[in-house]
Formats: sequence, structure tokens, C-alpha cells
Amino acid sequence: MAKITLSVIKADIGGYVGHSSSHPDILARAEENLKKAGFLLDFCVMRCGDDLELIMTHQQGEDNEKIHKLAWDTFIDCTNLAKKMRLYGAGQDILSDSFSGNVKGMGPGVAEIEFEQRKSDPVIIFMADKTSPGAWNFPLYKIFADPFNTAGLVIDPSIHDGFKFEVLDPYKEETIIFSAPEEIYDMLVFIGAREHYITRRIWRKSDNEIAAVSSTQKLALIAGKYVGKDDPVLIVRAQSGFPAVGEVLEGFAFPYLVAGWMRGSHNGPFMPTSFKEANPTRFDGPPRVIAAGFQIGDEGKLVGPRDMFDDPSFDRTRRMADEMADYMRRHGPFEPHRLPLADMEYTTLPDVRKKLEGRFKKEVKREV
Ligand code: 13P
Ligand code: 13P
Ligand code: MG
Ligand code: MG
Repeated sequence: MAKITLSVIKADIGGYVGHSSSHPDILARAEENLKKAGFLLDFCVMRCGDDLELIMTHQQGEDNEKIHKLAWDTFIDCTNLAKKMRLYGAGQDILSDSFSGNVKGMGPGVAEIEFEQRKSDPVIIFMADKTSPGAWNFPLYKIFADPFNTAGLVIDPSIHDGFKFEVLDPYKEETIIFSAPEEIYDMLVFIGAREHYITRRIWRKSDNEIAAVSSTQKLALIAGKYVGKDDPVLIVRAQSGFPAVGEVLEGFAFPYLVAGWMRGSHNGPFMPTSFKEANPTRFDGPPRVIAAGFQIGDEGKLVGPRDMFDDPSFDRTRRMADEMADYMRRHGPFEPHRLPLADMEYTTLPDVRKKLEGRFKKEVKREV
């Protein structure tokens, strides 16, 4: 069989209630749209919080106009339904009036991966709510570069050479490729600044086989103002020549801090939950991540999803996230709960600064 493309395209087209979750009628409508398309090998419609996730297999390759148009038309149709139901922020991530070949740069998030099918192909799709794409930097580093997380980097000859990381600077619109493990210290200088540098692709070094792809759209950069958080997705391939499923999930065992909680303007712990618990409510959070496991079957069939974080072994992570949420919340409007000033540029900050123009007086230096 020719190569298969796995496309995950997502958008917030309206929340139920507020930004906390998605209405079942919207999911049903999205399914109807994908079902009647006729050119997909298979599909699965999911949601994380208020984000609608279209997971599709096909043989049209990445960045394909037909696939992107199908996703776009589905989002528009669902937006119209959301408007009729007066769901919250209907059409939130639809930042353009018309489709022009590709949904990139128009609001929706995209992660696509084209690959030759292996005998058995386990894939995990991570979907997040209330955060930005830099949220994947930490677990991707753990999974693909940290031997304390991924035993295979030490033990498994097929990944012992390590992986290559493509890192994007969305502000300058430039990318760089780092080779791990040799360049991890250089790489961490950049990916540690997760609101500025985003890990977009990872390849196995020994043969350049694609291992992971993330969505990288930053809505505030497209819209020029805060319109909602990016709520990114991530595809990771697992087993035989890649990290094991458990090594991939282990990257999320510590609820590290991510940006995007409440009004997109606060740091908070990243909480891995089951599908059904992905309804961020406390202070619109804390930020959520779900993991949908699939085996890619015959003819690109999506055998799944398995709800990978639906496991008591992640209860402690969730409890720790709750404790961290208490700790962060008590900072109120103070950093580091609230994001630093550079990230507040897309909120009311510039207006307040303007209002107070002239009120800031130059310090007069006095001789003693
Ligand atoms: P409004 O859009 O309701 O003013 O508030 C923004 C928001 O929903 C942040 O959670
Ligand atoms: P979403 O990006 O998930 O719509 O959340 C917006 C928000 O401001 C929540 O507080
Ligand atoms: Mg929303
Ligand atoms: Mg959302």
C-alpha cells in the first residue's frame, strides 16, 4: 500500500458552557461532514475542552487542498450550528472569511504526518486545551532526548543514535534543526523559552524517519490580538524504532507549567486526563491534555481511540496538578501566575499603558 497520511486539524468553533467543553450536537455534525466526504480512508471526531478535533487518514499527502477544504468546510458548518445554538465564542478560531487552499494561517491548528505503514503502527495523538504550542517542548524533550524518561535511548539499538528536532521561531518565521544528544545544551537554551521557540518536527537520526509532528499556530500572531488560546495537537509514533508507548506517556507524568490558563494569560500545571474529564472548569482550567492511542490498521483504518490517560497511574500527576493549581492561583494577578509583559501585549495592557501616558515622570537624580 502507498504511503498513508494522518491529518489532525482542529479549531475552537464554540464552547459549551463558556470555554469549558463542546456540545455533542457539534461533534455529530462534524462526523456527518467527514462521513459524506468519500475520499478519507478513515476518520475520528474528538474534542478536548472546547476544541473540535478532526482526525483523518487518507492518501492525499500533507498540506493537501482537498483535505484542508474538508476540514475548513466542516468548521464553517459547525460554526453555523454553534451560532444557532448561541454557543460561546462561536467561530472563535475562524480568522478568515474565505478558504484559499490551506487552513494554515487561518486560525485552525494542523499536525500532519505521512508515512510508510509498518507491520504494526501505534500512534498517540495528544490534544490540549488552554495552552499554547510551546507546551509540547517539555514532553518532546523528555521523550526523545532524556534517557531518564526513555530507557530505549540507552537500551534499544534502533534509537540509540538519537533524534533530530526542528525548532520554529514563529516571530521571525525561521527554523533550526538540532541533533540530540550532541546539541541538547544548545537546544535547551531555545526550547526552554517555550513561548518563543516551538518544537515542530522530530526525526529518527539513523534513517530520517518522521517520529513526531506538532501544530504550531499562534492565534494572537495571526489576529494581532487575543482571541482565545491556540490549544495545540501533537502526533507521536511509538514502538519498534520509536520510544515505547509507555515512554511516550511518561513524558507527561510531571504536571509541568504551561502558558494559556484563564484568558490565555496565566501559567498553570498541565493536567493529563481521560477524554471525559477534559472539561477545564476551575478558573477555566487547569490546562488539559488528553492522549488518544490508535493502531493504524489495514487500509489506514484508525483502530481506536484508546483513552491513554484513563489510568490510575496518572492520579498522582492529577493530584499534584491540583496542588500546583492552588499554589499558582494564590498569586492572583502577580507573575509568574500571570504571564510576563511581552505575552500581555495582545490583551488590554497596551490600552492601559496608553491611558496613563504622560503620568510616568522621569526620575530626578539628586546629589547627596
Ligand atoms: P469574554 O469573551 O466572555 O469577555 O471573556 C473572555 C473569556 O472568555 C476568557 O475566559
Ligand atoms: P479557549 O482558547 O479554550 O477558547 O479559552 C479561552 C479563554 O480565555 C479561557 O479562559
Ligand atoms: Mg473557546
Ligand atoms: Mg480551547
